[in-house]
Amino acid sequence: MAKPKVVITRKIPAEAEERARGLFDVELNASDTPLGATGLARAMREADGLLPCVADKVTAELLAMPGRRTKIVANYGVGYNNIDVEAAKENGVVVTNTPDVLTEDTADLALTLMLATARRVGEGERELRSGRWTGWRPTHMLATQVHGKTLGLIGIGRIGRAVARRAHLGFGMRIIYHDPYPLSEAETAALGAERKESIEAVLRESDFVSLHCPATPETKHLMNASRFAQMRKGSILINTARGDVVNEGDLIAALRAGTISGAGLDVFEKEPTVPAELTSMENVVLLPHLGSATLETRVAMGMRAIDNLEAFFGGTAPRDRVA
Ligand code: DGY
Repeated sequence: MAKPKVVITRKIPAEAEERARGLFDVELNASDTPLGATGLARAMREADGLLPCVADKVTAELLAMPGRRTKIVANYGVGYNNIDVEAAKENGVVVTNTPDVLTEDTADLALTLMLATARRVGEGERELRSGRWTGWRPTHMLATQVHGKTLGLIGIGRIGRAVARRAHLGFGMRIIYHDPYPLSEAETAALGAERKESIEAVLRESDFVSLHCPATPETKHLMNASRFAQMRKGSILINTARGDVVNEGDLIAALRAGTISGAGLDVFEKEPTVPAELTSMENVVLLPHLGSATLETRVAMGMRAIDNLEAFFGGTAPRDRVA
């Protein structure tokens, strides 16, 4: 029997590509340039399965396209706001994601951003590399402590919990959180955490606020001018979730006005475009969406997406089905 045809939209680690080659009639993207709407349309007309990444927009138009052959979209990523899930459901296309495997890496990166922003790591490195460092002095680049402070989590799913564990057990931080789906009392206690009834209650008490909610219509611009106004003076925002969750214009205004003192961002509203107002600020740390970017995890994400395709084409339910 002919193998199902699968298009993998971007280069993925060799180990995962190799496995995909063994299982499917695979089309790889040797140049690793984005396929764009036209390339995705061609892929979805010609292939039984699509393995896109979080930067590929799988729109309602593509999913409803006459002549579409693709029956499964196995996203390479835990977040799947790049896919119009409602349109997938309406058009009978299965969608899967890659949860679990990137939890710990993303939590590591959230802590990296907290430390880097609070301790002025980017600013210090820029000073040293540009030859402006004049030597040790008691009042040089004074920062704010991280250990022992209060960390507020917006969202306490897998990644939120992994951040809480690191911050509480490693840095002795007090953890507070808000989530419409709260943890049990035992789980909350194990993280040394305390649940708050509202986002505002978290913002008012936190020295650091870290976002761990999915990008949905409900969470779009969840952090806006009125929410920044609720944050403590001197506090720091961390975003490793999705750019859409933050109104970037309002964030820039809050940073400029000193409403909050810094931000550590791995995700942006219009990736890969980052507003010049942000790149010119010293009190922000900006990373190019690196949350899951370790070789181990990127291999594991590939394997998980391939597991989902293998199950689907083998006639069983893919474990990570979201539509
Ligand atoms: C995801 O998987 O959603 C990340 O943002 C990319 O690793």
